[in-house]
Amino acid sequence: MNRLTGQTPDQGPESEPTHQATQTVVLAPVDAEAWTAPTPIPSAEPSQDYDREPNRRVSRRAAAPQAIEPRGLADLRGQEISAWFGDHLVLDSVSLTMPAGAVTALIGPSGCGKSTFLRILNRMHELVPSAAMAGKVLLDGQDIYDPARRLVDARRQIGMVFQKPNPFPAMSIYDNVVAGLKLTGVKVSRSEKDHLVESSLTKAGLWSEVRSRLQSPGGGLSGGQQQRLCIARSLAVQPRVLLMDEPCSALDPTSTRVIEETMMSLQKEVTIVIVTHNMQQAARVSQQCAFFLASQGTPGVIVEHGDTRAIFESPQDERTEAYVNGHFG
Ligand SMILES: Nc1ncnc2c1ncn2[C@@H]1O[C@H](COP(=O)(O)OP(=O)(O)OP(=O)(O)O)[C@@H](O)[C@H]1O
Ligand SMILES: [Mg+2]
Repeated sequence: MNRLTGQTPDQGPESEPTHQATQTVVLAPVDAEAWTAPTPIPSAEPSQDYDREPNRRVSRRAAAPQAIEPRGLADLRGQEISAWFGDHLVLDSVSLTMPAGAVTALIGPSGCGKSTFLRILNRMHELVPSAAMAGKVLLDGQDIYDPARRLVDARRQIGMVFQKPNPFPAMSIYDNVVAGLKLTGVKVSRSEKDHLVESSLTKAGLWSEVRSRLQSPGGGLSGGQQQRLCIARSLAVQPRVLLMDEPCSALDPTSTRVIEETMMSLQKEVTIVIVTHNMQQAARVSQQCAFFLASQGTPGVIVEHGDTRAIFESPQDERTEAYVNGHFG
């Protein structure tokens, strides 16, 4: 039995991943407006096409708009995740549970697969034409790669904030916050929108700074404010998980502190996974920590994971100890 594919040898080659980007899958209907949206999509990097189903056949029949319903905290589990770019295996059977209501920090040297793992957690990895993956991602026990589930649902429930803030620069602050609603097929009234804008900006720690200029362009904010605007935009669709890939690495210490405080207050309602190269930040904001490593051209693996305090104060593996103490990476 192949540990990646679950196939017996006569079912396919040993190294064949289960979620090839080239597979053809007929999915449930997606929101036609989202599919044809001319603007870039929130929570994705500007160059990426959020709703594109690469190499998949997708029905364009419109789905009924959905209302936002409160959903409880959820854990996120990656099970035996492997990832390829072309023939290059970059992650080898990585398993990690990111507990509900906690902040999990992913740490490790450059190139060990942290961002790739994060992108697999909300189905962005498959946007890269050469990319493939194997394994499962379970949100509250449900497989987000189940072909019967809509891609847009996974993205709505599992939001992403990137290293470089990516608001729509010419769009107003107000419209930036609610941009994700239409694109994920969520229908809300004007008064609900007003409420969401205020509550999302408040949770993101930005409301008091922008409440008097909600119609000003998002591009007019400082870098730290833009990053908080992107957090507010992710929060407006009420995700259950927020993935953050080095969200403070382009920010000054004051903005970094505000975003760390935001994370700590958000974790009561959203499970958070953050990639960071800043060990002090990992120690400050996270309760769980996973140390990734790809040594000497081998694919990335998790060397050690668990309680953040234990990873920093009493690591079990000497490579973890060397890394958290700044001896390499
Ligand atoms: N689009 C891509 N095409 C081909 N290879 C890629 C692509 N993106 C990443 N890789 C490769 O996958 C491996 C893991 O990259 P990844 O970006 O996940 O690492 P990382 O741990 O996030 O690094 P960093 O800390 O520098 O951000 C690296 O070897 C990288 O070169
Ligand atoms: Mg990265």
